Amino acid sequence: MSSLRFDFNNMMEHNIGKKDGISTGDLKAFKKQAYAAQRHLAKVLLSKKDRISLSLEWTRLPFQDEKVLAEIQTYGEQIGKNYENVIFLGIGGSYLGLKAAQDALLSPYYNDFKALRKGRARIYFEGNNLDPETLFALLKNLNPKKTFVVCISKSGETTETKAALELAENWLRKAYGKNFAKRIAVITDPESGALRQKAKKANNSDPLAYRSLPLIPGVGGRFSEFNMGLLHLAIIGVKLKEVLAGAAAMAKSCEIPDIFGNPALMYAVLQVLAFKRKRKSIAVLMPFSEQLKATADWYVQLLAESTGKKFGRKIIVEDGVEKWAEDKSRLLNTGRTPVSARGTNDLHSIQQNNIEGRNDKTVTFIRVEKFRNDLRLPFTGDFLAGKKYSELLKTAQEGTAWALNRAERPNCVISLPELSPRAWGELLFFFEMATAYEGELLNINAFNQPGVESYKNFMFFKLKKPGVKKETSEEITNNPMVSKKRYII
Ligand code: PA5
Repeated sequence: MSSLRFDFNNMMEHNIGKKDGISTGDLKAFKKQAYAAQRHLAKVLLSKKDRISLSLEWTRLPFQDEKVLAEIQTYGEQIGKNYENVIFLGIGGSYLGLKAAQDALLSPYYNDFKALRKGRARIYFEGNNLDPETLFALLKNLNPKKTFVVCISKSGETTETKAALELAENWLRKAYGKNFAKRIAVITDPESGALRQKAKKANNSDPLAYRSLPLIPGVGGRFSEFNMGLLHLAIIGVKLKEVLAGAAAMAKSCEIPDIFGNPALMYAVLQVLAFKRKRKSIAVLMPFSEQLKATADWYVQLLAESTGKKFGRKIIVEDGVEKWAEDKSRLLNTGRTPVSARGTNDLHSIQQNNIEGRNDKTVTFIRVEKFRNDLRLPFTGDFLAGKKYSELLKTAQEGTAWALNRAERPNCVISLPELSPRAWGELLFFFEMATAYEGELLNINAFNQPGVESYKNFMFFKLKKPGVKKETSEEITNNPMVSKKRYII
C-alpha cells in the first residue's frame, strides 16, 4: 500500500479564493478528461509492443526479474566494498536520478567521514558538465588504483559523458596498463552507439573489460532511475527490492481510474487546471529536506523535457502498435517551467518572489514526517528552548503554506512518513506517473526531447563530427549569430 500522502487543500478555492483556487465543480467538469488520460495510459501499458514503441517500459521497472536484481545487488556490493572511490559518468537521465538517490538515501557528508561510509567507497559524479575544473580536480586528487568507474549513457554518444570517459580511461591506463578497462563498467544500449562498440571491441580480447549491465529497451533516460540507477544503488548499499517495492505500491495506486484514489492523477489534473485555467506556468518544487533537493533537481529535468513541447501529439496505430508523432497543425509551445528550491534555505531567497512576485506559480512542498536523526535545542530560556529541529522545520513549512494562502497562491504538500528507500521509490514513481498523466492531459508526447538536439547539432558541426546532415550544416551556416560591436560594452 502507498504511504505517500498528497494534501491539496491549498490548491482549492476554500483556502486561496475563487480567482486562483480550483473548485469542486472544476474537478467534476474535468473528470471525463482525467479518466480518459488514465484509461489511455492504462490501455497502452497493457501491451509490451506499445510500451516499447512509446518509451513507456519504465512503468514495468518496479516489477523486474528478482534474479537479475540479485545479480546487480551482488556486483554492486563487491564494487562498493573493494574500491575506495567510484566515479559515475553520465548526464541528464543518466545522472540526476543517481544523484537524487545518493543524497536522499545516504547520510549527508557521506563522502567526508569513514564512519558514515561503513567500509564503502566514496562516490563522485562526473561527465555531467564540460567545465574542466571539476574533472581536473578529481582526477588529480584521487588514486586511480583505488577507483572504479561506471559510465552510463543510454545512447553511448553523449559528448559530455564520452569526453569524461576518454580522460578517465587515460588516467586508469596510466595506473593499470592495458588491463585498465576491467575497472570500468558500462550501462548503455546493447547494440548501438559508440560506447557499445567500444565495449564490444574490448570484449573480444577480454570479457571482463567494460563489464555491461542490462539496459531495458523502451525506457527513456529521465524515466530510467530504476534501471540505469540500480548499480549505483547497489554500490551504495541500498536494497534494490525496497526501492522497487515503493515504486510498485505507487504503480498500484495508478491503476485506480478515480482522481480521488490515484494521487499522481490528481496531482496532474490540479497542475494542468492551474496551468490552463489560472495561468500558473511555473512549477516550484520545494522539499523541506536538504536531502531531497537533488530529487527536486531530478524533477526539473523530468517535467521540462517531458512537457516542454512545441507541437501536439498525433496518435497513429500501425500493425496494431501505437505510435505518437508530432501534430504540426497544433503549435502549442506548452509545458510548465519547473524550478527546484528547498526549505528552509530558499525562504530567504525565492520565497519573496513566490509571495509578492507574479502570481504565476504553483508551489509543491515535500515533507518528511520522521527524520532519521533529530536535534533538540538546549534549554536556554528563549522561545527555541527544548524545541526539536524537525518541529522548527515543520512549522516553517506550515508558515510558508499559510503565507502563500494569504497571498492567494496555490500550493500543495506531498508527505513521506520517512526518507526510506521504499518511500523514496514511491515518490519518484509518483512524479513519473504524474508527468505521464500531465503529458496525456496536454495531449503531447512526454517521452521524447527533440528540442535538446539543436545545441548538439551546432556543437557537432563546429567540432566537425562526421555524419552531420547537409541540411543541418546549411541551417547553421545560413543563420549565423550576429555579433555587433555596438551591443558589447
Ligand atoms: O531523458 C533523456 O533521455 C535525456 O535527458 C538523456 O538522459 C540525456 O540526454 C543523456 O543521454 P544518454 O544517456 O544517452 O547519454
